Amino acid sequence: MSAPRELFSSKLGFILAAAGSAVGIGNIVGFPVNAAKNGGGAFLLMYAIFIIAICFPVMMAEMAVGRKTAKNPVGAYSALAGENSKWRLAGLLGIITPFMIAVFYTVLTIWIFIYLIMTLGGQLDYLASNAGFGEIINNPYYLFTAMIAVGAVVGVILSFGVKDGIERAAKIMMPALFLMLILLVIFVLTLDNAMAGVKFYLIPDLDKITPAVISGAMSQAFFSLSLGMGILVTYGSYISKDTDIEGSAKLVAITDTAVAFIAGLMVLPAIFSFNPEINPDDLSDSSVSMIFVFLPKIFLALQATVGYFLASAIAAIFFLLVFFAAITSLVSIMEVPVSYLIDEKKLTRKKALRTMFIWGGLIAVLATLSFGMVDSLTKFTTYGGGQDKSLFDVIYDMFYDTILPLNGLLICLFVSYRWKKHNLNAELSEGNSSFSNSILAKYVDFSLGTFIPFILAAIFINTVAKIYFGYDVFG
Ligand code: ALA
Repeated sequence: MSAPRELFSSKLGFILAAAGSAVGIGNIVGFPVNAAKNGGGAFLLMYAIFIIAICFPVMMAEMAVGRKTAKNPVGAYSALAGENSKWRLAGLLGIITPFMIAVFYTVLTIWIFIYLIMTLGGQLDYLASNAGFGEIINNPYYLFTAMIAVGAVVGVILSFGVKDGIERAAKIMMPALFLMLILLVIFVLTLDNAMAGVKFYLIPDLDKITPAVISGAMSQAFFSLSLGMGILVTYGSYISKDTDIEGSAKLVAITDTAVAFIAGLMVLPAIFSFNPEINPDDLSDSSVSMIFVFLPKIFLALQATVGYFLASAIAAIFFLLVFFAAITSLVSIMEVPVSYLIDEKKLTRKKALRTMFIWGGLIAVLATLSFGMVDSLTKFTTYGGGQDKSLFDVIYDMFYDTILPLNGLLICLFVSYRWKKHNLNAELSEGNSSFSNSILAKYVDFSLGTFIPFILAAIFINTVAKIYFGYDVFG
């Protein structure tokens, strides 16, 4: 007989681990970039609507499926739909997605780790130079040393398992992250012209709400809450029947949104403070790599007021914070295929980790080389009206932009029409007896079977048309 499934030690442990998964590079880097790019307040408004109206019910559904079956996504879909059901494919997509997301997430985590080490080594001025970022992402020595270090940290945490590894790491890193973030925001808000950024961020200009903003807000919200990646099915499989899913999901969503919001409150005012002449329209070109170029400049500019040493110390705290956030997310992303290998392929945790590290590591190495070091990986393919795409771009486009809404769509259809709503309701009522007849229950019931899959399908179709064929369905 196999050992009983390891569970989180308590509701708080689960909430911290799920929040640790949710809060990541997506919040601290992705959210401010997207907010800057998509009109500040307009993006924030759409994001908030999506979190409450769409992501929250999907989040509860994923957790419920996980807890009901006590299995990874493949096992969960099979357990509820039957071993030979086509729904198993949806489960497989729920394993492949985090596996591939782990690849691009590892690349970003490696960059952050290098930034942290270089800042600690007194090289903030180099990072802030125009050549810095481009040289770093093409320096095999830095990249592969950092990859080994990041792999070792994640490997050690995962080898300790659910309670002593994942939960303990989140318990230490999450509060530290919160504290560091709050201190940095207070500091940024005292800078000259910071209020122009606050205004851009908080006052929505409704004219800026375009299909691109809507789709950007949706992808960001999904990624940020760790939805559509099998993570919450897997983490849900590690919770006990007396855990209140609604309450836990609420706290995770609030924590994640609060961190994203606060990160925006740090980055956008900083942009306006250090570029008082900036035209907000110029921000529409913002990208993740832009933030890697821009952040060190923000910190370096602080030297005029606080000196180089203190500016470097503040930068180091920031990169440490992002690194913590990245690690707890990367751990959760990798746990999904690991739990699949343990449950379905009957590997020990150690062997599952080894398999994951070999294959994931191999693709991560190739993705790392696709920023200029190897030509065939840098110009890997062409699509979307003739744009050159690197291997990293392909992974990002496919698994971040395209597959996440598809996975969300599949889980909505699955719980509503295959597993059936009354079963979902019964599972969500375990540990929360007042749920079954609540208004929220009616909303979850209705929304998951109607407009949520409809919106996710529309976003999926538009994304495919736009990214791969260069055609915007909504004009
Ligand atoms: N939810 C994680 C993030 O936002 C993956 O980075």
